[in-house]
Amino acid sequence: MNVLLIGSGGREHALAAALVKSPQIDRLFVAPGNPGTAKIAENVALDAADFDAVIAFCRVQGIGFVVIGPEQPLVEGLVDALEAAGIKAFGPSKAAARLEGSKGFTKDLCAKYNIPTGAYERFTDRAKALAYVREKGAPIVVKADGLAAGKGVVVAMTLDEAERAVDSLFAGAFGSAGAEAVIEEYLDGEEASFFALCDGERALAFASAQDHKRVDEGDRGPNTGGMGAYSPAPVVTPEVGARVMKEIIEPTVAAMMAEGCPFKGVLFAGLMIGKDGPKLIEFNTRFGDPECQVMMARLEDDLLGLLLACAEGNLPDEVQLSHKTALTVVLAAQGYPGTPKKGGRIDNIEEAEKIPGVSVTHAGTKMENGQLVANGGRVLNVIALADSVAEAQALAYRGVDAIDFPDGFCRRDIGWRAIGR
Ligand code: AMP
Ligand code: GLY
Repeated sequence: MNVLLIGSGGREHALAAALVKSPQIDRLFVAPGNPGTAKIAENVALDAADFDAVIAFCRVQGIGFVVIGPEQPLVEGLVDALEAAGIKAFGPSKAAARLEGSKGFTKDLCAKYNIPTGAYERFTDRAKALAYVREKGAPIVVKADGLAAGKGVVVAMTLDEAERAVDSLFAGAFGSAGAEAVIEEYLDGEEASFFALCDGERALAFASAQDHKRVDEGDRGPNTGGMGAYSPAPVVTPEVGARVMKEIIEPTVAAMMAEGCPFKGVLFAGLMIGKDGPKLIEFNTRFGDPECQVMMARLEDDLLGLLLACAEGNLPDEVQLSHKTALTVVLAAQGYPGTPKKGGRIDNIEEAEKIPGVSVTHAGTKMENGQLVANGGRVLNVIALADSVAEAQALAYRGVDAIDFPDGFCRRDIGWRAIGR
């Protein structure tokens, strides 16, 4: 089978590496891909926002299956367009991708179907939002309704911060994503992510993970797309995992079916594990980046077979994952998450990959006159698989230290919370 993978990040490099191992694959194309995917698949210059161009490419190349990495094409309806053209795809329809595209939609669904999450209200009026914030007091969480590249959330520890967040949201800080605010109860506990594959009717637990969103060590500083991650997440014990499936994932899949927009694809639940069990913070409707990289390092199953099963409605009963821990460290370009410095030389990735148990995926890289250089905020992921999280951490940093990227930086404490347990 010929497969087209949409995306260009570290997530897509990890997906590509798993897809090419499938006994079912003939050719893998990645649009647009990156220098890492170019080594294992065929990169193509296709704009995922141009549905007609994607469909035309699929017809010419005889693509039997399209795998969509990032959220934007899902929220815009690429899966619907492909299916209408008779092309199978991995990912939710536009209506089902509202689980990620609209926080208000998800919160209303949770309320209607008793899915545990923080109490909330939706607002389109600044004065009413301010009145609510003053009534509830801090800590409180102010969110833009729509997609805001992970930047639309303010966890306000003081009333003053909450008021400023409401003001800036209604002043247009997030464009159309902030036309509506969701104001939510502050949840206390430990955060973790849980991933389940869904075929519209059923869900299969895939894996848990934890990431480090803040740029600085000790989980301080501004938010990023993620500076590192590991899987499994120790806080997601088998008991917690079973509760997540029973109380959050399965009711959501049933609710989406009842609402007439069955969910197919991967459901990524951002959770707060507190004293009274897991509560939903948010859903994403795609694999996490860099969580995907660590989950793929543990996967011992045929990824293409699993993703096809989601699209075809015949999920198996279990997935084969290594019991080892995978940990990834993100190498970012100086300046990230502000304006990253582009063009910095990167050498010696092969030295890192010679270390048994270490692999490297590319994210924001490009080839310039035969030299690999940085071309984005998050540049590389160094991934290690080992018997414990402490060993995986040590191995990942050996990989990091083998790479020569003078204009890059990374956090040196990825996994600290899990190691401390
Ligand atoms: P989100 O984009 O909704 O995942 O929010 C980004 C981050 O804000 C989350 O990863 C949490 O760290 C934090 N956050 C969001 N909602 C809440 C909440 N209700 N209580 C506490 N922290 C939250
Ligand atoms: N690493 C978090 C995300 O992909 O949304």
